[in-house]
Amino acid sequence: MNLQHLVKSKVGAAYAACGLNTEKTLVKTSDRPDISDYQSNGALGLAKELKTNPRILAEQIATQLRQDDFFDTVTVDGPGFINMRLSTRALTENAFNILATDTGGYERPTPVKKIVIDYGGPNIAKALHVGHLRPHVIGEAIKRLCRFAGDEVIGDIHLGDWGLPMGLLMAEIQERQPDLPYFNTAFSGSYPDIPPFTAKDLEVMYPLASQKSKQDAAYLARAKELTRRLQAGDKGLKALWQQFIGVSVTELKKLYHELDIQFDLWRGESHVNDRLKALIERLKADGTLILDDGAQIIPLGKAKGGNDLPPLIMIKSDGAVMYGATDLATIEERVTEFNPDEILYVVDARQGLHFEQVFSAADKLGLLHKAKPTHLGFGTINGRDNKPFKTRDGGVMTLRMLIDIANKAALDKMNAGEMGRDLSESEKENISKIVGTSALKFADLMNERTKNYIFDPDKLTSVEGKTGPYLLYAMVRMKSLLEKNGATDVLSSDDIPTACAPAERALLLRLYALPDSVQTAYDNKTPHVICDYLFKLAQDFNLFYHDCPIKDTDPTTKHGRLALTKYTLHIARLMAHILGLHIPPKM
Ligand code: ARG
Repeated sequence: MNLQHLVKSKVGAAYAACGLNTEKTLVKTSDRPDISDYQSNGALGLAKELKTNPRILAEQIATQLRQDDFFDTVTVDGPGFINMRLSTRALTENAFNILATDTGGYERPTPVKKIVIDYGGPNIAKALHVGHLRPHVIGEAIKRLCRFAGDEVIGDIHLGDWGLPMGLLMAEIQERQPDLPYFNTAFSGSYPDIPPFTAKDLEVMYPLASQKSKQDAAYLARAKELTRRLQAGDKGLKALWQQFIGVSVTELKKLYHELDIQFDLWRGESHVNDRLKALIERLKADGTLILDDGAQIIPLGKAKGGNDLPPLIMIKSDGAVMYGATDLATIEERVTEFNPDEILYVVDARQGLHFEQVFSAADKLGLLHKAKPTHLGFGTINGRDNKPFKTRDGGVMTLRMLIDIANKAALDKMNAGEMGRDLSESEKENISKIVGTSALKFADLMNERTKNYIFDPDKLTSVEGKTGPYLLYAMVRMKSLLEKNGATDVLSSDDIPTACAPAERALLLRLYALPDSVQTAYDNKTPHVICDYLFKLAQDFNLFYHDCPIKDTDPTTKHGRLALTKYTLHIARLMAHILGLHIPPKM
């Protein structure tokens, strides 16, 4: 039982002793931390029902509560609010059982859910750009948050690996190296193991091919024909396409290692190719799919909001398989293979209509009996001009450049002495990367998911304010405080924290408040709530650090303060893990 539940059960017992409905205690954390830790506002409503005076009723309940030394003070205020301040004993004796657990007192909801989360969504042969930071970082945090809450979660990258972009690349390669065996339908040997291009080559070739196809109709026609042959299963083109995947995935994994992002499934749009063919035949036969001006579409009718939804285009008149078609077939696959309770999509908010259409079509096909799909949209990362962030000359800002900018900003702060003053040059080099990348993630996650934000490398790497470095610094301080005093970070039942000084109480209460934040973040899939919590925790810890010295205190106080530090570090680590923040060894 966590602290809130303990308070609720005590208050419930007091209501019961007064012959009152224990369901109506309305216990919550106090709005008036100056006078109480928790309050119970149930007397007001109950007094109305019983046609009695709420203050008198509240007094009766308070009299019961005062008999328990769990509470330090119980007062009745205003029209009949009961304000409770917990005793030191209540705060300290429960610490180990509640806080030292691997959920820090958060109680997992039952039954747990099975969730497929679709995030990241990079496209083969294209370098990740600034717009890819959010789907990766937010998706990873939501995945970890759901796992923290006990859900069984499958993270799927859903690679953009199908359709015309693949044909365009092939057209460009064919133009450059027409003699490659992949293009020769008569070739019967084995294809080369070494790809005839590097990741860099692909990144250069794709935009070029895309541009050419807009100016050169014959080039576009070749790309389309290559796409068609690939999708129809041409052996050589399939082998070439495998090389695209291999080269791109290797490149992606390097970046994911740096960003600490892991996928359970590395499937892509291509994965449902066969399923899609079968689905289309079925939908044609039952009349769900109709022909409209040569295109094969699913009419959708009214959206939930009442507006008419445009039809979902499955196959364009030129035979191209559309984005919505692969997404629809992927829902069918996920439902059949995993039978999930929820499918979450962490994708740019600008794709809102697309998902509304896909979900509506899936519903029409009867795929959503159990699975509830949700598009968790996010805003864009903007430059100071409030437009999507670009390089200085207006080019595409790659994710690599973005990470490097953040890491460099952290190094600059170290060289300027704002942090890392005691680090050697080589330590600065390494630690600035840990700090810079975590700072970048935190700056992204702390913003409300749905909103746009402005990327400011100088601000996000500052040690002051609501930033990653501020949090990391507090955590490094916790560790070094323990080390300096010969304590480890392992919690044991004789770690009884102190709770006498105001800063100690405030910090301890913050630790006990973790379940509320986790629940809100989980219910709404909003990692920024965890960021808020962790920031406040760091602030409370810093106050404690300044107000409550450990040196020159009596052994009990020293032991208690070190214990409080251990609990704080434990909870901070749990939350940092959800956010994917790495705590450097020193700072
Ligand atoms: N590859 C897509 C893009 O770059 C994102 C994929 C998102 N996931 C999905 N199931 N549609 O826009």
